[in-house]
Amino acid sequence: MTESPPTMRTRIADCLTKVAPGTIVDVRGWVRTRRESKQEFAFIELNDGSSFHSLQVVADKSIPDYETLIKLVQTGASVAVVGELKESPAKGQKVELHAQSLKVLGQADAAKYPLQKKGHSFEFLREKAHLRPRTNTFGAMARVRNAICHAIHCYFQQRGFLYVHAPIISTSDCEGAGHMFQVTTLDLAKLAQLQQSKGTGASPSGAPTASMEIDYTKDFFGKKAGLTVSGQLEAEIFACSVGDCYTFGPTFRAENSNTTRHLAEFWMIEPEMPFYELEDNMALAEDFVRTVIKEVMAKCPDDLQFFNDRIEPTLLASLENISGNDFIKLTYTEAVDILLKSGQTFEYPVAWGKDLQSEHERFLTEQHFKQPVILTDYPREIKSFYMRANDDGKTVRAMDVLVPRIGEIIGGSQREERHDVLIQRMQECGLDPADYWWYLELREYGTVPHSGFGLGLERTVQLITGMQNIRDCIPFPRTPKSADF
Ligand code: 4AD
Ligand code: MG
Repeated sequence: MTESPPTMRTRIADCLTKVAPGTIVDVRGWVRTRRESKQEFAFIELNDGSSFHSLQVVADKSIPDYETLIKLVQTGASVAVVGELKESPAKGQKVELHAQSLKVLGQADAAKYPLQKKGHSFEFLREKAHLRPRTNTFGAMARVRNAICHAIHCYFQQRGFLYVHAPIISTSDCEGAGHMFQVTTLDLAKLAQLQQSKGTGASPSGAPTASMEIDYTKDFFGKKAGLTVSGQLEAEIFACSVGDCYTFGPTFRAENSNTTRHLAEFWMIEPEMPFYELEDNMALAEDFVRTVIKEVMAKCPDDLQFFNDRIEPTLLASLENISGNDFIKLTYTEAVDILLKSGQTFEYPVAWGKDLQSEHERFLTEQHFKQPVILTDYPREIKSFYMRANDDGKTVRAMDVLVPRIGEIIGGSQREERHDVLIQRMQECGLDPADYWWYLELREYGTVPHSGFGLGLERTVQLITGMQNIRDCIPFPRTPKSADF
């Protein structure tokens, strides 16, 4: 139940669901369409973003200055209407608003307005990211994304998890993949000059070579820094002090991946739990995903119905299936076996020791099991240093949650809590243990088994809306060569 804010304005969502017919309301929003009938009266479809459905306003000659005003009520214009809510004789709507006064707050030239009734491609709308939230699809996306975030916070808050803010600027590369965006106040123009005057200082690509070492002690933080790729290491610190906790923040990866599932800036939710082993971690991840889906289905039925009707016809059935059934659990090795025996030809061949590609993950979830799958115990060579090593010497206690239509939505693991094994793993991964002295000290003073995972928010929005491209699941996508708005 949402409370109305202390203002005279009534939201359209409230007009459509809880305000009693007969009430005088003050409504404001943007005109979707206007239809005039024999110059006597007009129907205005008004939307303020609070609900999927617009409110039909009936305006007639009894309104002061009707003839002049109604001409200005064009698609895209913003208007304020005071009037009486009445039961509607029309099909498909319970109420309509009979205007008593009408004010045009901001005009719009309907002929020039970029959002025309014919509908636009998502590519076109990405170039109009300042107006796309006014479309049905992006209004619905914004509300569903909000409902997902709310459900996530509720899930953890109701279970006593502490919300921890991980830093955005970081000096450690948690995933060890070398995909950090650098943060520096060094004068790049000066460095370029220096490079030129030295002549030999740079490689043909212009990148500094070893002979042109940069002195990071002169940089803002006194060492090389970047935008965080994950809040996990900091979440581990808190988990090993205050208990169950989670981060929820933006993360950044300078990967040159132009796919429908990758962003350079995305939001991640990273719970971290002391005393959890991998099985506990899996159980939490499954319950979490299923609960969030159920909550959003209950909160946004109109928006999800729209996505089902217009974007992804299997959406509601797949969400019912995911939220209503147990996830399948198997090891990476078992999954590789299934893929090898599947008789499918994949673009990327499957072999034990190689990372699974989205096509493999989708085969498992869409064709083989037709359900979400949690894969565990991946080869140690393809996973990060912090994952707990298994006794077989070949695998680590990793878990990826894979879902239909998307593939990986969660990556997580039990963490390596043994000091000596962790040092060995860092060296194996080419990391200098000295850089992670504080992370190692957590294993020196009262170490405990612990686990956690990371859920990609935009991939969750993709899953719950059925949208094909992750760029349409975040208000302002950042991808290679694209950071407008
Ligand atoms: O599997 P990842 O890289 O795991 C971590 O970052 C761990 N530190 C998490 C943890 O254990 N606390 O990323 C986790 C999830 C992925 O499963 C995916 O949903 C999402 O983050 N993700 C991305 N989403 C959009 N664009 C990208 N480039 C993404 N990279 C990862
Ligand atoms: Mg991963």
